[in-house]
Amino acid sequence: MNVVLSMAISPNGLIAREDGREDWLPSENWDDFLVDAKAFNNIVMGRETYELVKKLYADYNFDNVDIAHKVIITRNQDFKAEGYAVVHSPEEAVTYLRQQSIDNVLLIGGGKLNTEFIKASLVDEIWLTVTPYIIGKGRPFISPEDFDLPLIFKESKQLSGGRVQLKYRLKEQS
Ligand SMILES: NC(=O)c1ccc[n+]([C@@H]2O[C@H](COP(=O)([O-])OP(=O)(O)OC[C@H]3O[C@@H](n4cnc5c(N)ncnc54)[C@H](OP(=O)(O)O)[C@@H]3O)[C@@H](O)[C@H]2O)c1
Repeated sequence: MNVVLSMAISPNGLIAREDGREDWLPSENWDDFLVDAKAFNNIVMGRETYELVKKLYADYNFDNVDIAHKVIITRNQDFKAEGYAVVHSPEEAVTYLRQQSIDNVLLIGGGKLNTEFIKASLVDEIWLTVTPYIIGKGRPFISPEDFDLPLIFKESKQLSGGRVQLKYRLKEQS
């Protein structure tokens, strides 16, 4: 099982404004996300990401993403969303997708969930699309916790609109 955490970030490590808006990110990020989502045939997201994107964006909506497995993680045992598998921990998400014969998992945030995956040592790669736009305040791509995470650089790629994608591994491949 290979878990890839993939995010579009500002150069100062933010993924959304405090109220959840991503208006400063270009639409190409969504187009690239769709390509990856189709290739992985799965996405895993936190409950806040699901709800905020659904509320704020009619055009960029996970409901319309036509792939086999869409997973929401929440601690709320009563939470339901049609068309999604709802699970209650990072470990449960990975177990569920393994049972669906998925080998490569696409974790799409947000920052609070990313930190939980990292603390559980469940992330194998981090892909960051650095977008040339700084917002002074917002939600971080990793919510603050006391840990160190050494990264191994894998590759970088220049994308349209001055964006740069950086790929890292978290541990040496065996
Ligand atoms: N730029 C990008 O690439 C990008 C990508 C994704 C998201 N975003 C943005 O990020 C923002 C949301 O990020 P966020 O960090 O605030 O929230 P988030 O990580 O999307 O969601 C947090 C929620 O996930 C659930 N959760 C987290 N850890 C869990 C665990 N260990 N076990 C069970 N449930 C767990 C909890 O849901 P409950 O409270 O229901 O228990 C928690 O409140 C949105 O504005 C979204 O638009 C940006």
